[in-house]
Amino acid sequence: MVSVSIASQSPIEVGTALLVVALPENPTLAGIAALDAATQGAITRMIDMKDFRGSRDETLHLTGFTKGPRRILLVGMGPMTDRRAAMKRAATLAARNAHRLGVGEMVWYAGEITAEEVEVITIGLIAGSWEYIDLKSPVPEPEKKKPLEKATILTNNTDETRRALNNGKAIGDGQSLARRLAMMPGNLCTPDFLAQTATDIGKRYGMEVTVLGRRDLEAEKMGSFLAVAQGTPQEPKLIAIEFSGGKPNAKPVVLVGKGLCFDSGGISIKPAQGMEFMKFDMCGAAGVLGTMEALGQLKPEVNVVGIIGATTNMPSGTAMNPGDVVKASNGKSIEIINTDAEGRLVLADCLNYAKKFNPDVVIDAATLTGACVIALGHTASGVFSTDEVLVTEILGAGKRAGEPGWPLPLWDEYKELIKSDVADVKNSGGRPAGATTAALFLKEFAEGYSWAHLDIAGTAYSETDLVTIPKGPTGVPTGTFIEFVRGRAR
Ligand code: BES
Ligand code: MN
Ligand code: ZN
Repeated sequence: MVSVSIASQSPIEVGTALLVVALPENPTLAGIAALDAATQGAITRMIDMKDFRGSRDETLHLTGFTKGPRRILLVGMGPMTDRRAAMKRAATLAARNAHRLGVGEMVWYAGEITAEEVEVITIGLIAGSWEYIDLKSPVPEPEKKKPLEKATILTNNTDETRRALNNGKAIGDGQSLARRLAMMPGNLCTPDFLAQTATDIGKRYGMEVTVLGRRDLEAEKMGSFLAVAQGTPQEPKLIAIEFSGGKPNAKPVVLVGKGLCFDSGGISIKPAQGMEFMKFDMCGAAGVLGTMEALGQLKPEVNVVGIIGATTNMPSGTAMNPGDVVKASNGKSIEIINTDAEGRLVLADCLNYAKKFNPDVVIDAATLTGACVIALGHTASGVFSTDEVLVTEILGAGKRAGEPGWPLPLWDEYKELIKSDVADVKNSGGRPAGATTAALFLKEFAEGYSWAHLDIAGTAYSETDLVTIPKGPTGVPTGTFIEFVRGRAR
């Protein structure tokens, strides 16, 4: 992974294999006149000829200088209406290019930047060089490209910028962990592996970790979670990890993540086409673990509990069947209409378990419904809560993290759709308002505290390359969770 640092050098003096110069749309030469002169007017020529306009995601590679940097990569930041977002995106793209080039090391220059911008640039550089190659055979030496190992941000070296760098690294580490866990195939990233990862984080940062197995879930009468787990020979895990940054008696923020290490649909089996993407059905859980990793480094003054419900959803002779009725740990009975609506069954018992921690607020994140993808596409996560102030707080956190959310209704009018003939509630309301009925189902089990639900089915991973992010996990909801917690610490 790339190691990011800061240096207060001038871009002309710096000897580097790759100098990245990030420029806004329709750039003026004010800030880079000296650099331009040192490169015999190369940058001006490119701008004058309109070979480079500074539009978002635009890149131009310049070489052939006799002194200073060996290469310059111009990266466009676009209109810069949101400076943090523009810089982060450009930094991500720059690092991705540097990583692909195999130059091993790069320097980032964007003129005068604030400490806050140092943080997001660091996050971007780490995100852009992220790659999952653990399972590929090593490339033989002659063809091997140097991975991006070192990135330097040119800025003032002050207490503020150093703190911003470290915060950026913490968030980058958290997001990288979440993405690695998500990208790992289901046969490696098992419920047991997630529990082991939580235990490792706990050891590293002195957090208490509790892991419940099948017998413990039985003792807790978690019939809803167990219904999903009854079809798989793997040991299901309910994982709780406690970060105590706040006062001992301060109520914690509780973050709950859906951790389906693979979702085949169960007896209501999914079509084969694209089923491999269902290894990503644990992105909520990955976000919780990524957040805990970041919090261990950021150490905000707030108590946070992460809860994960981890299992797989499989068709088998012991699997739950449509028509079955099970009882959750809060005593409510559930009729299973569709075994593919399994995430809500796992989360039901996790949300009830959250009560044990006397939460100030509970937020769950889950790749919960295809209906949410239809409603909001791959741009925004669905945000559900009856607490409008909490919705605003989450939308703000998502915005800061560059992970937009958008509210969807959680109105009682829709409850009719999940009424059961035989039980208190049914686990599927069919196709209409599918994201809302899933959220309303969860609400039946999120009682006694302020609660919000994030449906990240469309945002947690991408089935195509996204320019700055390769096909695969995006890191959502890690950034949103981290920004929410930081907001509570202020
Ligand atoms: N994990 C899926 C939801 C999903 C769909 C995530 C697409 C990512 C991309 C979830 O368990 C599921 O299968 N939901 C069903 C619910 C339905 C049976 C009520 C769905 O959305 O089709
Ligand atoms: Mn499913
Ligand atoms: Zn699922």
